[in-house]
Amino acid sequence: MPRLPPSLFWRARREISPMAAQLLPACRDLQSAANELRWIREHVQDTKSPIPAGLRVWQLVEKRGRGIPLQYVLGTQPFGDLEIKCRPGVLIPRPETEAYTLHLASLLSQDQPPPSSLSILDLCTGTGCIPLLLLQSLLASHPGTPISLHGIDISPHAINLARANHAHNISLHHLPPPSSSSPSTTRLTFSQLDIFSPSLIPHLLQSQPQIGELDLLVSNPPYISPTEFIHSTARAVRNHEPRLALVPPPSTGGGSQQQQQQGGITTEFHHPADIFYTRLLEIAATLKPKRVLMEVGGWEQAVRVIRLLEGSSSGVKGYGTVEIWRDEPAASFSSSLGTIKEEKVVVGGREVVVRGEGRGRAVYLSRV
Ligand SMILES: C[S@@+](CC[C@H](N)C(=O)[O-])C[C@H]1O[C@@H](n2cnc3c(N)ncnc32)[C@H](O)[C@@H]1O
Repeated sequence: MPRLPPSLFWRARREISPMAAQLLPACRDLQSAANELRWIREHVQDTKSPIPAGLRVWQLVEKRGRGIPLQYVLGTQPFGDLEIKCRPGVLIPRPETEAYTLHLASLLSQDQPPPSSLSILDLCTGTGCIPLLLLQSLLASHPGTPISLHGIDISPHAINLARANHAHNISLHHLPPPSSSSPSTTRLTFSQLDIFSPSLIPHLLQSQPQIGELDLLVSNPPYISPTEFIHSTARAVRNHEPRLALVPPPSTGGGSQQQQQQGGITTEFHHPADIFYTRLLEIAATLKPKRVLMEVGGWEQAVRVIRLLEGSSSGVKGYGTVEIWRDEPAASFSSSLGTIKEEKVVVGGREVVVRGEGRGRAVYLSRV
């Protein structure tokens, strides 16, 4: 990252405020520093505290200036129409995750005939942003339809925050309180579980008997290899967001990877960043969701995940549609041939539709 010239700090002090100069190392340009200073001031105005407002602004500016992400400083991040609480120790929701969540909700809303019920499983739920936004969208598109959503994460901090986010968005009237719809109509649960635990699938089958009718399995798992984490991840992410959310462990506590190592039979190599996808595909093979959406960290990983589909260990069959979604899956883009909504590529002999604009962001499977 290039160093900032002293003249920029003088301009920030002169043209905006000394506090903007303090924000510059994190914000990098005057416009961003001015915006963030405004948001910090608005946040302090809107929240009650025994600490005097001026001092609080200084405290928050000082934190932000040290590189702590704005979402942890302010405590929230917009996600669709929701406001998601953010706390250190739990990954901050990203705009690309929001984009595919909204696209998924729009696909589910187009199903004909409309489903008589909807069941959704979100593995590695973090703040709970994905099931919460799906719930909000589906309540609007499927009024009266029974909807069941289950978010799972290994981290107790994440599960506590996901539950707090549900309550927070009810208090903001972004989501209905449980009492306003009968308990059998909408069910949102968050459970602390390791997705590699051998007891995961029996637990899911037991806790959600209708899981055989799973409409969507969605997951944004840790997908950055240890090497990429050190060399290519932004410093703010590396220093302040939880490694548990970003980097798969070298060996997992169960599932296929461990069987491969313990049994010593399978020598199949998996990229160290892809460990979670092997497990997600195993889970999909058992639960047979109608749709699967797995976030990935770029085009190369998307291609590797599609190749895993063909692997004997995954056993995922019957998904007629395999797609790669870019960052904005609903966007069309202009080319010399006109406006294009989708492209086609061939991966491992299989035709794959590529949607939207930006970097490869997700692999989508559908049997609908
Ligand atoms: C990339 S974050 C995604 C969070 C959230 N879904 C989002 O999109 O913002 C990955 C999440 O996986 C969780 N996680 C890591 N290992 C796990 C495991 N073995 N089982 C379940 N969750 C796990 C982390 O705690 C983290 O919250």
